[in-house]
Amino acid sequence: MSTDDLIFDVRDVTLRFGGVTSLNNVSIQQSRGEILAVIGPNGAGKTSLFNCLTGVYTPQVGEIIFHPSQDQSVSIMGRLPHKVTQAGVARTFQTSRMFNALTTFENVKIGVEARHKTGPIGAMLHLPRRNREERESDQRTLELLAFVGLEHRMNTLADSLPYGDRRRLEIARALGTNPKVLLLDEPAAGTNPSEKLELTDLIRRINQEMGVSILLIEHDMRLVMSLAERLYVLNFGEVIATGPPKEIQENPAVITAYLGTTETEGVSG
Ligand SMILES: Nc1ncnc2c1ncn2[C@@H]1O[C@H](COP(=O)(O)OP(=O)(O)O)[C@@H](O)[C@H]1O
Ligand SMILES: [Mg+2]
Repeated sequence: MSTDDLIFDVRDVTLRFGGVTSLNNVSIQQSRGEILAVIGPNGAGKTSLFNCLTGVYTPQVGEIIFHPSQDQSVSIMGRLPHKVTQAGVARTFQTSRMFNALTTFENVKIGVEARHKTGPIGAMLHLPRRNREERESDQRTLELLAFVGLEHRMNTLADSLPYGDRRRLEIARALGTNPKVLLLDEPAAGTNPSEKLELTDLIRRINQEMGVSILLIEHDMRLVMSLAERLYVLNFGEVIATGPPKEIQENPAVITAYLGTTETEGVSG
């Protein structure tokens, strides 16, 4: 990895909830353009990390710097989630958060419109701009649906999409905000083997064709090891290992963290 062009620079982050320490002194660096994975047993702090990176939680200790470009720095700490999104950080959630009563098209358009300058009042006062934005939004929404392979489902209600399509819809909506980095929280959870292959291909295309950096939480080791250039392993809120897939697979501390878990907090949690 190159340390002179980081997209995320997370330093010594500690996040506590009362007596629970969810993240303890966590430092993570992601290079621009990199596909980076975060793995670890259930409850290790992976989703908490994403919540810190997107402004949902503010850690008590540490620094989180996002670099939208090489010469720009945005401190995430204390910034509201929608401001973090506007700065160029998009995410999907571990459990689906679609608008079920809206169509596929409408769900993606909401993501696209999240970056528009014209609010409801502006829309009344500046009709020409509003109309242009509307056409551009529709156009971009269609492009994204085609990119993820859902154009034939555009009028289907999100509620009635097959599971694998829902996961791709979530990704399309996140891409609508024009992110520099996309955070994916267990995108393959609950998908079947052929959906996993499609998803692997989609994530790679987002990275290579759109130039979006990817930060990936995933339990499916085959998917993670085939996609990620590097990994961080979290266990009980601490980084216990980092490196390329091959090193991680052979790391004794990682093997112990996974094999040493109890039945209730297995690798698939
Ligand atoms: N809002 C919260 N309030 C209290 N505890 C939380 C909250 N969010 C996360 N935690 C705790 O942080 C720890 C890590 O959880 P999480 O980040 O969801 O782990 P993972 O995504 O790796 O499974 C857990 O012990 C969890 O209970
Ligand atoms: Mg989680």
